[in-house]
Formats: sequence, C-alpha cells, structure tokens
Amino acid sequence: MSTHRRARLFTWLGISLPLAALSCGLFPTIRFAPLTPAHLDGFDVGAFPPGFFWGAASSAHQVEGNDIHSDWWPWEQAGKTKSGDKSGLATDHFNRFEADMDRLLALNLDTYRFSLNWARLFPNGPDTPDEAAAARYDEFFVALKARNIRPMVTLLHFTSPQWVTDADRWGSGHAIEDFRKFAAFCAARWGKDVDWWVTVNEPDVYAFHGWLRGIFPPGKLDGALAFRVFTNFMKAHAEAYHTIKQVDTVDADGDGKTSQIGVAQLIVPVEAFNAFNPTEQALAYVVAHFINGFWLRSNETGVFNPDVPGFFGPFESYPRFKNTLDFIGINYYSRQIVRFDLGGIFWGTPPEAPFVSQLGIEIYPPGLTDSLLTVVPFGLPIVITENGIADAADKDRAQYIVSHLSVLAEFMRAFPRVPILGYVHWSLTDNFEWENGFAPRFGLYEVDYATQARIRRPSADVFAELISRVKNRP
Ligand code: BGC
Repeated sequence: MSTHRRARLFTWLGISLPLAALSCGLFPTIRFAPLTPAHLDGFDVGAFPPGFFWGAASSAHQVEGNDIHSDWWPWEQAGKTKSGDKSGLATDHFNRFEADMDRLLALNLDTYRFSLNWARLFPNGPDTPDEAAAARYDEFFVALKARNIRPMVTLLHFTSPQWVTDADRWGSGHAIEDFRKFAAFCAARWGKDVDWWVTVNEPDVYAFHGWLRGIFPPGKLDGALAFRVFTNFMKAHAEAYHTIKQVDTVDADGDGKTSQIGVAQLIVPVEAFNAFNPTEQALAYVVAHFINGFWLRSNETGVFNPDVPGFFGPFESYPRFKNTLDFIGINYYSRQIVRFDLGGIFWGTPPEAPFVSQLGIEIYPPGLTDSLLTVVPFGLPIVITENGIADAADKDRAQYIVSHLSVLAEFMRAFPRVPILGYVHWSLTDNFEWENGFAPRFGLYEVDYATQARIRRPSADVFAELISRVKNRP
C-alpha cells in the first residue's frame, strides 16, 4: 500500500471509528462538560429585580419520614408502588429540619416551600389536632424566622390522611369541609409566620394519578370520579382561600399584605409530534387547553368550565371559586407531545428526545417560555414554584438550572411588566419520588439513606454562585 493510501486509510479510520463508537452508544454519557461556577460570567444577572425570591422546595411525605397516618403509608406497605419502595424514614426531615435550613442558607436561598402535613396534624379526624405535631411545626417556623427564610406553605401535596381516603371523602366531597378546617387551623396558628400559601399542589395530577390511573392512593380507575375529585379540589381551594383571608390577619414579612394565596400547577406545553398532522395538532390543543387552563379559566368566572370544544362546556357554577388566586405557581419540568397513529394515541415525552433526565423526561428549557405565556393572559403575579431534574450522577443539573434561568431572564427582559416574583427549585434534597421510590435523585443535596448524610452536589455550587451574583450585583 502506498504511503499516500495508508495515510488516507488512517484518516478514514481515525474519523469513522470514534464516530461509529459514539453512535453505537459506547460513550453514552459524553454530551458536554458540566458547567462550573466559572462559566457564569456573562449571565444576565440584572434581569432579576431586587427582592426576587430564590428558593427550594419539598413536600411532607417525600421527606419527613414515619408518615404513618397518611394514605401513602398503607399503600406502600401493601407493595402498591411501582418501585416497591416504602417511604419509611425518608430523609428524616421532620427531625432534621433545622440543619436542612442551614443547608438552604448555604446556597444563598431565601425561600423554603414545604408542606404542612395534614395527616400528621389531624391523624384521627377533622376536629382533633395533634398538639405534639403542631408544636414541632412551631419549631420549624422559629427556625425559619431565625434564618430570615421566607416560608411558602403548601397544604395539599399528593397525600391525604387515611381517614379521608378510607372513606373516599374526596370523591364524596366531604373532604372540602375537612380541608377548610385544616386550612383554618394552619392560618390561625401560623398566619403570623406565613404570608405565602399554596393550597393545592398540581390538582390535576393528583386527581389523575389517584382516581383515574390508580397509581396513587386511593388507586381508583374512574374517569368521572377523577373529574369530580378535581372539581372538589377547586371547591376546597376556594373554601380554604376565604378562610385563610379571614383568619390570617398578620403581615408576616412586612410587605403590607397578610396572605398571598395561590395554587401550584404543572403548566405543560403540549405539541403535535408531527407539526403537519391536523389530528395531532387538534389533540395537542385540546389536551393543553384542558390541563393548563381548566382551573385558571374557571377561576376567572366562578363557573367550572373545561371548555373543550365539542366535549365539555360550563357545567357547574361555584361563585366562591371566582377570583381566588393572588398568584399562579408554575411547576415546569418539560414539554409533552401527542402522537396519533395506528398504535393509538401516545401522550408524553417525545420519543428519542436527545437530552433526557434519569426518569426519561426531556430536558427542554424553551418550553418554560410557553408555560409562562400560557398564564400571562390571566394577569396575575407568577412564581415558579417547581423546576428541577432527576439526575443521580449530577451530570446535567447545572446545565438544567442555568438554561432554565436563562430562559426566565430573557422572558423577564422581554416582558418587564409581567410580575414574576421568584424561582423555587425542586428539590433541596433527594427524596421519596412517589411511585418511583428513592432511585430518582432530584436534590441539590444528595442523601445517603444509610446514614442520612447530606452531600452537596457540584450543581448546587453553580446555583448558589448564580444567586450570589444576582444578589450582589453592583
Ligand atoms: C411534584 C413533586 C415531584 C416532582 C418531581 C412535581 O410534579 O409536585 O412532588 O417530586 O414533580 O417528579
């Protein structure tokens, strides 16, 4: 072989072999080098106004541990989670709250979104609070105040007390009054500490998973019932809203307002898999219109109206629901697509999405713009109440955070009059991820469940540095 031909062969091998290896998936984890704090130069720190909140989130059942009165406890003991995991001690956050709040401060955060556990506070029925549990939550608020951390309190986050679920009181509607009493108790006891209340977290997801798909307790598979439960959440929210407004008369943070009450909704951009397929376009429109808009549109009118052309119109008037939002909480994780072919209808993460989380969910920062634009017409202040990624290896989390915050910064520059008040990351620590158990890791801090040690992830350094640059800009 001539020297010339040999050189060509080597060049060909040199290029094709690595490419072939890459395409065979030999290096599936090589995508891009992780971001470090040094990469933040040039980030648009000025887009975030002074006073913008920076927070992290959790929910009671996912972190507290020994949540024995909640409906998830027997559900897990009966082996009904997909993973088979039981929440058990979770991250033992109920006992380790103070140290976890130090970790929150160590990341330059100023806001903690967490849930007060209805099952722990009312283990036996709607009228008999557990004083020991309430006294422990008193200590949470003392710890928050001592650290100058703003509490944002969720009242219903995917779990209910066993006595609610055993008698399907959400299905029957009795839980509306039960929940109102719970909200009244929390507002009376902690209204002096709390101004930011989230009544219900992702009501559509809770109703869908618990009463239609049967993957959360109570494990029902009944579309009509799921729909009724969803509207019962709207009524429960309305009753809690009016009660908190009446009972929480203390302005905890001195901004002139005693309570700001909202709902945290998963706002999902839904797109046709094939942009030229009119059936998929129509389905995507209907799904997005229903899941993102049902609650918000009904809130403007006080009439429950899914407003799905050709299927559902207004069907029940509940005037006490009207205008019961002081802000909209957006939980944004990703987009979804609708695909329609001979195999049926598929709705979920786009197949073959190039960048996905540990849970196979597409990493899609531009979708945050669509979510924001979905809620802007409602004219309410907006808080990003959740945004995060399952990433046990912490290889994509820094990019995930910075890319979503870049999208947010750009949006705030483009729409300076839209009041976007804060960004809350999911989650402070790893936790019990519902049906998927402990494997998905969402934490800025890794939890070693054998020892309960918390280990700060490198991506948390990037997030903390970004916040510090925003807060300390000249
Ligand atoms: C829920 C959280 C959950 C997170 C990650 C959110 O929709 O509110 O409870 O852990 O998604 O899956």
